[in-house]
Amino acid sequence: MKQPVRVTVTGAAGQICYSLLFRIASGEMLGNDQPVILQLLEITPALKVLEAVKMELNDCAFPLLQDVICTDDAAVAFKGSDYGLMVGAKPRGPGMERGDLLKDNGKIFSTLGKIINDVANPDMKICVVGNPANTNAYILMKNAPNLKPQNITALTRLDHNRAIYQLAAKTEQPMNTVKKLTIWGNHSTTQVPDISHTTVSGKAASEMVDTAWAHAEFMPKVAKRGAEVISARGSSSAASAANGVIDHMRSWVLGTDEGDWVSMAVYSDGSYGIEKGLIYSYPVTCKNGDWTIITDLTNSDFITAKMKESEKELQEERDTCSDLFA
Ligand code: NAD
Ligand code: LMR
Repeated sequence: MKQPVRVTVTGAAGQICYSLLFRIASGEMLGNDQPVILQLLEITPALKVLEAVKMELNDCAFPLLQDVICTDDAAVAFKGSDYGLMVGAKPRGPGMERGDLLKDNGKIFSTLGKIINDVANPDMKICVVGNPANTNAYILMKNAPNLKPQNITALTRLDHNRAIYQLAAKTEQPMNTVKKLTIWGNHSTTQVPDISHTTVSGKAASEMVDTAWAHAEFMPKVAKRGAEVISARGSSSAASAANGVIDHMRSWVLGTDEGDWVSMAVYSDGSYGIEKGLIYSYPVTCKNGDWTIITDLTNSDFITAKMKESEKELQEERDTCSDLFA
């Protein structure tokens, strides 16, 4: 049996975590041979609900679940942690953009970044989910200089999965035949869902669907799917978001499939002319716990212009919250 790993999850009494925690504990995220200790962080008023979540986790009798620690003290939650899933943050309501949350949520990530910097394992791998996810990850990174910037990522895998579904439905092909799809940029409506390099059942997607559909229907459908769910459900996506986190972490830790890539918002190394240091979604492959950006794609002028728009939005978000990092 492997040694247990410590997984810290913030916002653990919220909607996303009600799906996420059970799937981590069952082994879906890190493998069915990897024992886990869950270190769950909530704000004080939510601790009672969190205790109920713990009861239910225990009542599942998951063989891999070694312990569940519930706390409102971030220093306890992040102590010695190997993985950090940063979910705890306000969700948006109807009519809001995710960037509107920056004023309230940005502070959470500067505070937690400082605490993580002091108490966490410096090799800890982090996935930021709370919106606006890319900029919150940027704020966290700037407040946690002891961590490798490459280990601070944000979630765009939900967008990636949404795009797979839309393309599979349009082409009437099985979901698992869609390969090499990319979400570029920000987890916002400026994101760039791109099927220029995608294959479906071994054929170029560009030969199966026309460009007008890709630009005028597919791209906005994926980019605005979060708002569509909010309008139908009255609250933001939860189970599909949790599934995105499971996929993101599993790919990162256990590796991506041969002949495919996934989308992750990661520390930009300047690839494709995007400003170095922004947390920007790229196509990546993962091996041995590291991600690598696919750097040799040729993009059309249309995609390049959209990528620059998303970069500009990230620069603007960063500039509006510069008081939250040095
Ligand atoms: P929720 O309101 O149901 O749960 C959030 C939880 O976070 C609450 O229980 C709250 O008490 C807790 N919390 C607030 N501040 C905290 C802090 N400082 N420390 C620890 N916990 C804290 O919301 P949800 O539906 O679970 O969504 C959480 C976040 O995830 C939102 O910001 C939402 O917009 C975002 N989200 C992102 C994606 C993505 O793809 N990146 C997808 C879905 C949702
Ligand atoms: C999503 O994409 O579903 C989340 O980011 C929630 C939202 O506000 O859209």
